[in-house]
Amino acid sequence: MKITVIGAGYVGLVTAVGFADLGNEIMCVDKMPSKLSKLSKGISPIYEPGLTELLQKQIGKGKIHFTDKIEDGITFSDIIFLCVGTPQSDDGKADLSQVEEASIDIAQNMNGYKLIIEKSTVPVNTHQWVKTVIKRNLKKDIKFDVASNPEFLKEGSALDDFVNPDRIVVGVESEKAKDIFKELYKPFVKKGISLIITTPAAAELIKHASNSFLAMKISYINMVSELCEKVGADVDMVAEGMGYDKRIGKDFLCAGIGYGGSCFPKDVKAFIKIAEEHGIDFSLIEEVDKINIKRRTNFIKRIKNVLWIIKDKNIAVWGLSFKPNTDDIREAPSIDIVGELEKLKANLKLYDPKARENFKSIFPEKQNIKYFDDKYKALKNADALLILTDWDEFKGADLDKVKENMRLPIIIDGRNTYQPKDMKKKGFEYYSIGRENFDPKGVWK
Ligand code: UDX
Repeated sequence: MKITVIGAGYVGLVTAVGFADLGNEIMCVDKMPSKLSKLSKGISPIYEPGLTELLQKQIGKGKIHFTDKIEDGITFSDIIFLCVGTPQSDDGKADLSQVEEASIDIAQNMNGYKLIIEKSTVPVNTHQWVKTVIKRNLKKDIKFDVASNPEFLKEGSALDDFVNPDRIVVGVESEKAKDIFKELYKPFVKKGISLIITTPAAAELIKHASNSFLAMKISYINMVSELCEKVGADVDMVAEGMGYDKRIGKDFLCAGIGYGGSCFPKDVKAFIKIAEEHGIDFSLIEEVDKINIKRRTNFIKRIKNVLWIIKDKNIAVWGLSFKPNTDDIREAPSIDIVGELEKLKANLKLYDPKARENFKSIFPEKQNIKYFDDKYKALKNADALLILTDWDEFKGADLDKVKENMRLPIIIDGRNTYQPKDMKKKGFEYYSIGRENFDPKGVWK
């Protein structure tokens, strides 16, 4: 099938490459010249495992094309995925100006029936606005459908999530739209993946409700971790015990310094705003957001409590991205933590396997901020090591080498990378989240 994708961001690019790999022909439209020039050369502007390789393969096969001409994109096919950005505006609501702009472009260039599909995360009933905007701007009487098909992919495993989703959700209002989706997703249904067909409003809500629920799981276990620290229980064991209950499940119960990224923080806030506009009490979700913000301030407090004076201390940081296997630093806890330590005049030695360049755009290299391409080199003379992202390579680190390089063997771990008992045996002063933190060393809290 021929498919147009508007917006070559995370969701758009993975959707484009994923559908191309299934044999479809894709036209991907984006306005940003720097992005387009990279893409046409087969270079992915974002780091995502396997994406560059698959992109190059599909370009080689002639299955994927890139353009900045919206009219070429719209006349190319009847199926148009809207994958433009829906960033957070100052009041917490989703900023839908790019959705409106794309809808006007579609209306002005429509040359026949189109199925316009919202893939970006949008507030419930955005499809009504898309319909209204298209109708207002249409020059001729042309039939079209607007549908919702939210994307659930996770950064770091986006391609795998595209190929093997837990479910596919589509919200449609016509039989024609329903048939197009059935054809489009035939290869997935053949594999036994559930295709849930519902209304556009329900589909839009499924996305926001799912992300807020997952964020709630994370804040819940983080809240429990605080109690664990007071009573001397291990939060990882509590989470494991809870997770065996199938109704609860094991995933998304890792306590730490909270969630970040381009989705959870923004979607939780947007969901609260939607409820507010409809006069519904969403204080449960408001607490999820508050707990998450407190994770960062509490972690900074912990660093101060362990190290006392921060000024001139050599502090090594492992992990800057908001999660492993990505170079994305949007809403990453590292931004607040490094920012605060910089203010307090620490000497920061930063290491991340992929996110270094993105982090430099916020914290350029200078006298007290240095970047390293080797995690052990970042530890030279360190008074402490902070672990802020759960990259696999930290789990497998040579701890003897870690200790040898550091001036003082102090690790403040925001992701529960190691076992406290092992660390003690190795001679580390080790602080983690929600585990035996009734403070054996008598450090003031
Ligand atoms: C999320 C949703 O999972 C995905 O379905 C949606 O389409 C986009 O938003 P993503 O932001 O890529 O995906 O990452 P995810 O793996 O969900 O992690 C989000 C954040 O939560 C990360 O900062 C991660 O470190 C944190 N997290 C996750 C925890 O702190 N604990 C956990 O147990 C799980």
